[in-house]
Amino acid sequence: MKKYTRTAKYDEDWICQNWMGPNPLYLLEELCEHLDLKPGMKVLDMGCGKGLTSIFLAKEFGVTVFANDLWIPATENLQRFEQSQVADKVFPINAEAHALPYANGFFDAVISIDSYHYYGADEMYFPCTFSRLVKSGGQLGIVVPGLVREYENGYPEAMKKYWIAEPSAQYPEEIGELFSFHSKDWWRHLWEKTEIAKITACYNIEKPKEIWMPWAVWSDENMDFNVKDTDFLADDVNDDLALIVMAGVKK
Ligand SMILES: C[S@@+](CC[C@H](N)C(=O)[O-])C[C@H]1O[C@@H](n2cnc3c(N)ncnc32)[C@H](O)[C@@H]1O
Repeated sequence: MKKYTRTAKYDEDWICQNWMGPNPLYLLEELCEHLDLKPGMKVLDMGCGKGLTSIFLAKEFGVTVFANDLWIPATENLQRFEQSQVADKVFPINAEAHALPYANGFFDAVISIDSYHYYGADEMYFPCTFSRLVKSGGQLGIVVPGLVREYENGYPEAMKKYWIAEPSAQYPEEIGELFSFHSKDWWRHLWEKTEIAKITACYNIEKPKEIWMPWAVWSDENMDFNVKDTDFLADDVNDDLALIVMAGVKK
């Protein structure tokens, strides 16, 4: 696997205690190759989860981070920021993606790791919310799970159950949650057609399962998800799953 030298400095157990998906520090380090972050810049970390990426941004680049998440309480994240000695640079915020408390143009950069697909696949989200948060000339970057190619001819047989989920006794209202998995070109078009930003990077990370699998093994052992992530990866026999990096600069 590619060497992520910045991430290598962080304790693996600490990462596993706090990750909520494929190693978010690998994903962020990959994205940062396409950003130009400088000390003192204000960065929004949208969907930061337990704040690993926010801590990384403050430590690695000396930026001020607004660590925004929905599911994880701000008070819990504050404790992590204090333990990591970045509480003077990283501010925990609990806010939903459509009800953010920030002024337009406040940020030098807005990033999102393994979260943007939960809300950003909506056509209006980029032009009306995400891009507005950053100043002109500011940077935008996301890493999302997605597809190498759109399922234009229907779902591969083994993957259908993950998209069209069957309700079960345990999850009676279960519906497929993967409709926001798309190809890099789909994501690029979503942003590019608004003419708000110039896209500076848009690609699939090579060998995504090398990053995805350790999380899948860990979550199978430690989480009570209704789908085993290792089964999900194994059923992707055509290697359609992707981890997509996209970065741009607001015009
Ligand atoms: C898969 S987790 C990833 C968390 C973290 N970035 C990581 O990689 O460990 C997705 C995150 O997106 C956040 N999220 C999902 N929907 C959201 C919404 N509507 N508004 C704000 N955050 C949201 C959740 O709170 C969750 O922490």
